[in-house]
Amino acid sequence: MSAKKTGVPERVRVELGERSYDILIGKGVLSKAAEYLRPLKLGKRGVIITDANVEPLYAGALCDALGKGGFAAEVLSVPAGEASKSLRQANRLFEKLPSLGLDRHSFLIALGGGVVGDLAGFVAASYLRGIALVQVPTSLLAQVDSSVGGKTGVNLPQGKNLVGAFYQPKLVLADTDTLETLPERELRSGFAEVIKHGAIRDARFFGWLEREYKRVLALDPEAVAHVVRRCCEIKAEVVSADERESGLRALLNFGHTLGHAMETLSDYNGLLHGEAISMGMCCGARLSVKRAGLSEAEAQRLCGLIAASGLPTRLGKSFKLGELLEAARLDKKARDGKLRFVLLKCLGEAFVSDAVTDADLKEVVDVCR
Ligand code: NAD
Ligand code: GLY
Repeated sequence: MSAKKTGVPERVRVELGERSYDILIGKGVLSKAAEYLRPLKLGKRGVIITDANVEPLYAGALCDALGKGGFAAEVLSVPAGEASKSLRQANRLFEKLPSLGLDRHSFLIALGGGVVGDLAGFVAASYLRGIALVQVPTSLLAQVDSSVGGKTGVNLPQGKNLVGAFYQPKLVLADTDTLETLPERELRSGFAEVIKHGAIRDARFFGWLEREYKRVLALDPEAVAHVVRRCCEIKAEVVSADERESGLRALLNFGHTLGHAMETLSDYNGLLHGEAISMGMCCGARLSVKRAGLSEAEAQRLCGLIAASGLPTRLGKSFKLGELLEAARLDKKARDGKLRFVLLKCLGEAFVSDAVTDADLKEVVDVCR
């Protein structure tokens, strides 16, 4: 019987030696947080970091759930949105934490989307030189991607995620019930990362998404559970093999070089992460046809699924090529000033290429406008 039917959460393990941890996925896992935290043998005191949208929805329930298990948690909130993934908000949190009586056995809980997860993760990695972190992702994007794998950090005005640390959580609790309150545009944005996982690593899953995307976007519980579990399995496998991105992990950045550049040029305002990487993946598909032998038919399937799920495929006129290239040069995959791109040989198989030229990029950006 499936975990959904028995009420037992699905469990995906991220194997990283003594830093291994579980991702628990299911309906209502948030309300059992204390039960899942207890085996971690953390201290009794914690701080929940969340944002202004998520706090009124779930912070009270999480505090209650922790309280029943003998844990005490304060709540600190930041404004909602990408602009909060900043040194300014990190500093605000650092200044508040000392008055909350935490010690090295205490824990931080990131309750929210990827912005809260990355910000709180960065704060946890640094405060007291590192205190335990539990991720409680509440957006689809955070459940399928950002809460897993230990990349934490904040943006600079010059570029996305330029300051940060690898810092693994002790546990991830992905309560799929929380997706019920997620705005539709945010759900679609998260679906972009779902498509990415299929495109880079699992052609069969990609085919399933082509058939079932409507069920996922309608929050059919079985379809959502399948998507969250499969993405977490893929990410766990990649991260276990290459935690610090010396090779394989870079594939998770498909669509992100240009996507991050677009987010930077938008001043982290107006364009959602998943929307930016959707356009980045469409450019990636065109670059892959040119430089990696991706068939035209598969490129069209990828862009077709992105479009069908209500995500943007075209860049429009707002991004100037020169500015995009300049912003993209800060991409962490670049080597000696040369951009490197994740390309697809076929759906389900990706690699990092340094064969893409500025002329290729100009051509592709023009085609994708
Ligand atoms: P987000 O954190 O801004 O959340 C999206 C919006 O939905 C916010 O307004 C939030 O308040 C709201 N929200 C979240 N959960 C909700 C719920 N259950 N009900 C109602 N509203 C809810 O954005 P995101 O899309 O979750 O994450 C994007 C961020 O993740 C980007 O900064 C991106 O760079 C980062 N990211 C990180 C990794 C990683 O490995 N660390 C991977 C992918 C993306
Ligand atoms: N989203 C890219 C990574 O986690 O490596």
